[in-house]
Amino acid sequence: MTTTQPRIQWLGRWGFVLAATGSAVGLGNIWKFPYMTGEYGGGAFVLVYLVCILALGVPVMMAEIALGRRGRGSPIDAVRRVAAESGRSAAWSLLGWMAMLCGFLILCFYVVVAGWSFSYLWKMLSGGLAGGSVDDMVAIFAANNASPLNLGLWSTLVTVVTMLIVGKGVQGGIEKSVGWMMPGMVVMLLVLILYGVFSGGFSDALRFLFVFDAGSLSSEGLLAALGHAFFTLSLASGAILTYGSYLPAGASIARTTLTVAVADTLVALMAGLAIFPAIFANGMDPGEGPGLIFMSLPLAFQAMPLGTLFGVLFFAMLSMAALTSSISMVEATVSWLCDRQGLSRRAAAWVAGGVLWVISTLAMLSFNVGADWTLAGRHLFDWLDYLTSRWMMPLGGLGTALLVGFVLGAAPMREELGLSSAWHALWLYMVRYVSPLGILVIFVDALGIVSVEFATHWPFLLGLLLAISLGGELASPRLRRTLSDSTPSREGVE
Ligand code: PHE
Repeated sequence: MTTTQPRIQWLGRWGFVLAATGSAVGLGNIWKFPYMTGEYGGGAFVLVYLVCILALGVPVMMAEIALGRRGRGSPIDAVRRVAAESGRSAAWSLLGWMAMLCGFLILCFYVVVAGWSFSYLWKMLSGGLAGGSVDDMVAIFAANNASPLNLGLWSTLVTVVTMLIVGKGVQGGIEKSVGWMMPGMVVMLLVLILYGVFSGGFSDALRFLFVFDAGSLSSEGLLAALGHAFFTLSLASGAILTYGSYLPAGASIARTTLTVAVADTLVALMAGLAIFPAIFANGMDPGEGPGLIFMSLPLAFQAMPLGTLFGVLFFAMLSMAALTSSISMVEATVSWLCDRQGLSRRAAAWVAGGVLWVISTLAMLSFNVGADWTLAGRHLFDWLDYLTSRWMMPLGGLGTALLVGFVLGAAPMREELGLSSAWHALWLYMVRYVSPLGILVIFVDALGIVSVEFATHWPFLLGLLLAISLGGELASPRLRRTLSDSTPSREGVE
């Protein structure tokens, strides 16, 4: 494949794993996963989230990396090239457009939350988190949000730092930090978990996270869990696809994907185990919403030995984790501005950063002067989250699955994935039937078109899946052709 500019490549598979893990592990794991679990009732949400990661997230992630590496370009260019290679319409690049926009819109609210993390790091360092009660913590969080100048300065800082790193180029900026940040984060979470084990609330947390109560999950919660599975793996937002475009030929996509997905899931579960004991021990409401970790964790840090040190380290790691994710959200846009609009990386980063600054500042105002600026009951901040996680990511995942499952010829994905016949058949089955049907059923249910009781209807749903896949395979001879050609070759063309 040729491109307009030579593309930077990761230093081997490991460089990619670090960067993709840096993208995946972020505020989604430590800020969003716990508060959504709290809002949607605990164990049932966690179970659906885990199933979505495995059944929908992993196959779609493999597809995205393969598309990126095959197309060697920004999501728009990569998808267009790969579609053209199979003689398909350039309209498929709309999928790339949506992904690029989705990543950018996420970043517009993500920098505000990253700003919270930076400001809490500062508060930890400067002693601004004193106060022993939940009410004190609620008041500190509210005061932090009440001043647009304060909040705006922190989100502006995040925007500037992100753009400085992105402007410098992928490798230099991203790879190095993740190698020590990830283990550091794991150690901090372990410290919190251990503290929870000894100080109470741990068994309540375990029960809340892992006891499955089928009645507690609403249709809305199901869609939230699906959207969050995509969000936490950085899918359908251009991030993983663009990083995939820097992956050297020959690196195993399946192994890489599993490494990233396992690391991401472990960090989220550890975050849950670290945070919920503090919530239950202090008698807080798990459904507190987006402020949950900022109100609960400082209480734990204040009570534990060496708490200030651990608190500083924790918020430093969280801020770093947020940055390695932010960088990846804007990478698609910057790579597109470079490849297609001929801008230098630095210019592209500042152009994107300018637009980002305007939108994120408006989103930041949702917490103070713009508290009344709502549309259909939602602030801009909420709208950005809602549109991306509930609509764009599931639809992007659906589009990607259909593209690689049915639209493209068999050879490109076979060559890129390089799996044995049996594994390839399993992957193909997942992207053709399990992922699309899973996404569609959750959508149909959440939109209220049909009300699905998963706990009682699952045998019917399984039957439906089997019937549709059987019908689909009988109607399409392509899978059989794929399977009979059992020696994948990197050079072969269909
Ligand atoms: N996966 C990141 C997190 O969990 C968020 C993200 C979404 C990053 C989309 C890139 C693209 O924090």
